[in-house]
Amino acid sequence: MVALARSPRPLPQVADDTFAFDVVDGLQATPKRVPAKYFYDDTGSQLFERITDLPEYYPTRCEMRILRAHAAEIAKLIPDGAALVEFGAGANKKARILLQAAPNIGLYVPVDICGEMIEREAAELRLDFPQLTVLPVAADFTQAFDLPAEAKAAPLRVGFFPGSTIGNFEPHEAAGFLRHAGKILGARARLIVGVDLIKPAEVLNAAYNDAEGITAQFNLNLLTRINRELGGNFNLDCFEHHAFYNRERHRIEMHLASLKRQKAKVAGETIEFRAGETIHTENSYKYSTEKLAALARGAGWRPLHAWNDERKYFSIQAFELADEMPPLRAAE
Ligand code: TRP
Repeated sequence: MVALARSPRPLPQVADDTFAFDVVDGLQATPKRVPAKYFYDDTGSQLFERITDLPEYYPTRCEMRILRAHAAEIAKLIPDGAALVEFGAGANKKARILLQAAPNIGLYVPVDICGEMIEREAAELRLDFPQLTVLPVAADFTQAFDLPAEAKAAPLRVGFFPGSTIGNFEPHEAAGFLRHAGKILGARARLIVGVDLIKPAEVLNAAYNDAEGITAQFNLNLLTRINRELGGNFNLDCFEHHAFYNRERHRIEMHLASLKRQKAKVAGETIEFRAGETIHTENSYKYSTEKLAALARGAGWRPLHAWNDERKYFSIQAFELADEMPPLRAAE
């Protein structure tokens, strides 16, 4: 064995380098931006779970209600022995509804960028569903990742993509993701997607500007994470959470706004801010049922059914993989 020289500090992992690169790259761009997936460190994932319980944040409750009301029907899409693969699982309270309604699911594969979160949740799930095999995968589901061999061996795979996470992609990226999901899930796959619907701006604005300020904490935690992991020196008192509905583009925009002219250091680079300048941290696109179906069709999925709540705030849609992928268009 060749003895390796000891390095004075732990070697940076590839993932950390990507984080540093993406943050510096985004902060040097105009307008400034940081990819939303970096919200989800352990603190961010826990703050996000608190968002889902807020009185103003209707999407989680709406989606849970639709899932409960139609669980038996939705469960019919999941044949015996199938593997249920959840993209961006977080705390798996929605999957639990399906697991209860379809007790013959062979295998549950929660995929999430936050490894701590899914390991904790998997342990609890195993206690509550002793018959179920739970195989968490800590991965960025927007990138290629490998399914566990057991999931590949299942008779078919059903993708589960709740929480309107699809709305956090640009529409062309959402199409790209649906295509990528089809490749990962393979022949005869099905896909269950939850999407937030277009609705009055007041309802939307309130949902992302809660009175308790948890969404603000969630947004600002990105700077805390950058300070801790990338040697940043952002002053959190000098940035503010801004979220508003952009009607033309049917999306909530989340920003961190600089309250004054200031500089911050990140990974050895100095970033300058004008007073009022923002870092764009996330979009949450709102869809119509038809628009999501059209997007999915273009990405190789055949719409099977859509379930909405009475107020038409939220929609759960089911698809099956078409035999032939439509040809890739330049925009994708
Ligand atoms: N995808 C959901 C949404 O856009 C949940 C979500 C993601 C969210 N990031 C968020 C909610 C930030 C509030 C703030 O609504």
